Amino acid sequence: MWRSCFGVVLFLFLFCLFPYYLYAQEGTDQYQLKLPPEVLEPLIPEDNPITPAKIELGKKLYFDKRLSIDDTVSCATCHNPKFGFSDSKKVAEGIQGKKGARNSPTVLNATFYDEQFWDGRAPTLEEQAKGPLVNPVEMGFPSHDALIEKLRAIPEYSNAFKESFGTEDLTIEHLAQAIASFERTLITLESPFDQFIAGKENAISPEAKRGFELFQGKARCITCHEFNRTYPFFTDNKYHNIGVAIHGKNFAELARKATKEPDIAKLAHEEGASELGRYLVTKQTKDIGAFKTSTIRNIELTAPYMHDGSLATLEEVIDFYNKGGEPNPNLDGGIRPLNLTAQEKKDLVAFLKSLTSRGGANFDWAELQELAP
Ligand code: HEC
Ligand code: HEC
Repeated sequence: MWRSCFGVVLFLFLFCLFPYYLYAQEGTDQYQLKLPPEVLEPLIPEDNPITPAKIELGKKLYFDKRLSIDDTVSCATCHNPKFGFSDSKKVAEGIQGKKGARNSPTVLNATFYDEQFWDGRAPTLEEQAKGPLVNPVEMGFPSHDALIEKLRAIPEYSNAFKESFGTEDLTIEHLAQAIASFERTLITLESPFDQFIAGKENAISPEAKRGFELFQGKARCITCHEFNRTYPFFTDNKYHNIGVAIHGKNFAELARKATKEPDIAKLAHEEGASELGRYLVTKQTKDIGAFKTSTIRNIELTAPYMHDGSLATLEEVIDFYNKGGEPNPNLDGGIRPLNLTAQEKKDLVAFLKSLTSRGGANFDWAELQELAP
């Protein structure tokens, strides 16, 4: 009798209570992103739930220059909180002042992209984070193993990794997971424009309101910089050739050479080849010179513009679109002259500036400004 009673209790514990206990543990540990109710959650890989410990560790790694071979460059060097989490340079500059071929995009709201990089060659923030560490013109490690060996010798990291992943064994996967978790908190949805959309009529100026009308109408921007309340990030997550890349290059010749090099990351950092854009990933001619439609949130803070940093101001960006981009054989059909008046151009710029949000519900803007290099 006692024996069967014990059996029942054991059964209950194993199959009902214990799983619940595990579930509850996990539940308290997880960090729930704070988003306006209508905004869809970004996709978070199942094997990397966000936790407060990972966010803290990721933040530390993001600002740590020891993640470069000569202790001079951190993620924050090129994605600097002082410049809207980009770097204010035309193209990125890594160790020993070495120059890449592309402009550093902001990491604010990058968690909402379907794919990472201007050409979308990384499917997740985790995969993306592994790239710059071993890039010879960025952080310069010869291999991930070399970096991991260096970090294993730093005692403060052993504890932090143990707390985040339950094991002291520091791996490149865990490092990327921690950095990605931190990046997932960098969401900014508190701009004057957001207040306006939420119903506060006077949150933006009459110019900015007219600019938003133009953005959706005569200027046709919204066809690529898509906006809706569930996904308010101003991108279609697609790749378009708007003519930035052409500047006197022989695309056919570059494309022929590129098909012989399997290392896409290498090509993406090479002057010339990098201009092929999405073609490097798909090898389809329609993608020659096509780049990801970038978010335009916080655009006021992240000059210069475009994948090559070739446009210095927002006024120049509007002039570029107004003349119909740069003609080339792969120009996207959505790009054509707009005939905007001087006032309409000003209105569009005013609208773009209404998208600035210094801060968000999931991170402390002022704290990160303090940590900036
Ligand atoms: C030397 C400057 C530099 C460093 C250091 C650097 N990045 Fe970047 N980052 C760039 C550039 C340039 C690109 C765009 C490259 C491309 O598209 O080929 C980029 C792209 C990205 C993107 C994709 C954003 C988008 O819009 O698609 C993310 C996310 C990112 N970096 C995060 C990081 C993290 C995390 C680190 C540290 C591990 C880091 N970066 C280190 C320059 C840098
Ligand atoms: C056909 C699609 C398309 C249309 C239409 C379009 N854009 Fe873009 N936009 C893009 C793409 C793609 C990029 C990146 C191009 C590159 O760097 O080569 C971009 C880049 C930008 C950038 C620079 C982003 C950065 O981080 O450097 C701004 C600002 C911008 N667009 C604003 C606008 C405005 C304003 C309009 C309307 C006048 C507009 N766009 C119309 C696709 C489009």
